[in-house]
Amino acid sequence: METPTLDKFPKDVLAAIDVQRAFIVSRLIIAAERLQIFRVLHGKRMKAAAIGRALKIHKTYRDTFLNALVSLGLLHQADDTYWNTRLADKYFIEERSVYWTRQYSKECVEAYETLSVLEKALASGRSCASIKGMKRASYTEAMQRDRRRAEDFTQMLFHFHQDDAEALATYLDLSKHRALLDVGGGSGVMSIALARKNPHLRACVLDLATVCEIAARNIRRARLSRRISTMPGDIRRKLPVGHDVIMLCDIGPVSEQLLKNAHNGLPPGGLVVAVDRYLSDDRTKPLDRLVGSFVGASVQLATRSDMVARVRSCGFQAVKAKNVYRDVWCITGTKSSKQ
Ligand SMILES: C[S@@+](CC[C@H](N)C(=O)[O-])C[C@H]1O[C@@H](n2cnc3c(N)ncnc32)[C@H](O)[C@@H]1O
Repeated sequence: METPTLDKFPKDVLAAIDVQRAFIVSRLIIAAERLQIFRVLHGKRMKAAAIGRALKIHKTYRDTFLNALVSLGLLHQADDTYWNTRLADKYFIEERSVYWTRQYSKECVEAYETLSVLEKALASGRSCASIKGMKRASYTEAMQRDRRRAEDFTQMLFHFHQDDAEALATYLDLSKHRALLDVGGGSGVMSIALARKNPHLRACVLDLATVCEIAARNIRRARLSRRISTMPGDIRRKLPVGHDVIMLCDIGPVSEQLLKNAHNGLPPGGLVVAVDRYLSDDRTKPLDRLVGSFVGASVQLATRSDMVARVRSCGFQAVKAKNVYRDVWCITGTKSSKQ
């Protein structure tokens, strides 16, 4: 999946953006996404007044807002009529599901709000959210309470993790394994790719009940309901037995306790698989992980070496780390067969 990173924008547009004020441009694009302007204009041309009515944009700002999007290379304009550029269609429609548009833009708005006190956070070591007195439920609590939020978040990741899942399925040799427990498996995207690649493999997605409902839908659509099941539960508790592979993919910080639970849940010879965008050993990459830690609560900031050491310290052997796709790393370890 291609994201609208800055290199996708026309050079003359980028040359006009002062990096310190880039946040204003970015906030305008987020507003455009929140208003679903590119979806409304997809395959259509509309007059400014009609766009204003459809999206409830006041006429004080309407034309300036639309013209700023023209200036950014996201809309075309002629005689008061506007339509999407190829850039907008490709990166804001074709490459992004509606779930992504809703969830990601919401997260970005929350990030803007919290970052207004960044200097205070840097000085005090407290999180921006706590300084602002924002009593935010954790994302898992929010998903348990709100089905729409669970769907937006889970399906955003279903889309976003497709390429990672393909890469993982290509790399990971599960030919000698029978049953996979996908801990915090979310949409089921990883289990689906691994099950497709390994026709003998069964899998079980362990996640919140609201998320399991969505995973089950994706699994049905992939025609894999006979081989992939879902199990509502809490991944901080003892893990269910009966699986010879336990996978922990993009589930935030992985505690020693969780790794020990994985070790206890596996039979001798069982495999643990930890997948994430771990920090480089000099802790300078990936950039979005580093900046994300100023706005998110449970961001994974372990380095690959930290994770390898943690997996080893929990009793796993033959621990290996492999870069499988872009900045996604896969760390595997085996439970001794002599236990
Ligand atoms: C970022 S998502 C990743 C989903 C999936 N592994 C993937 O790679 O696409 C993390 C998942 O962990 C689940 N999760 C986090 N804490 C959990 C808990 N205590 N019990 C059950 N699921 C949890 C969330 O509901 C979410 O679906």
